[in-house]
Amino acid sequence: MELYRACYRSKIEWGKLRLPLPDEIDNTLLRIRRINRKAGVTGALLLVDQHVIQVLEGQPGQVLDSVYCVMNDPRLHAIEGIIHEPADFRLFPNSLMFFRDLTDGVAASQHPVLRPLLDHPGEVTREEAYLAFGHFAAELQEGRLTNDMLMI
Ligand SMILES: Cc1cc2nc3c(=O)[nH]c(=O)nc-3n(C[C@H](O)[C@H](O)[C@H](O)COP(=O)(O)O)c2cc1C
Repeated sequence: MELYRACYRSKIEWGKLRLPLPDEIDNTLLRIRRINRKAGVTGALLLVDQHVIQVLEGQPGQVLDSVYCVMNDPRLHAIEGIIHEPADFRLFPNSLMFFRDLTDGVAASQHPVLRPLLDHPGEVTREEAYLAFGHFAAELQEGRLTNDMLMI
């Protein structure tokens, strides 16, 4: 099956949120996981201060449809594409949408690969995005191996 990966960074349009941020995130994750399950799309979403950074993986048409939905979502603006390319494998094969809130800076203080994601005026590069998402993908993979070993 042909696979495609898209990754973008986008600013949050605070005035367009209908609920307090934690509730808005919960509702949106519920909704997008439902949509992604039907579309066979997997990925990860990181909240970073004024931005979200998201990676979407799946069949090319489905991923591009998801990106189109994101681009039309009034809660986001100033979308910057970071990765748009065919992929050999999924970084997040079992995650309908993995989520981490990095706004408190704790994870970034412990893991240097996450620091380039924290608000800096320049763009996030493809390499920086791969290192950061790779960090979480590896964390999930380790969890799976441990679960397999413990048979849980
Ligand atoms: C932070 C964020 C992430 C999103 N991620 C996805 C996604 O992974 N897949 C998708 O199809 N839509 C995604 N969207 C788009 C919206 O969830 C979608 O357009 C919206 O919920 C549309 O539906 P509704 O008005 O029917 O709820 C995202 C939107 C936001 C704000």
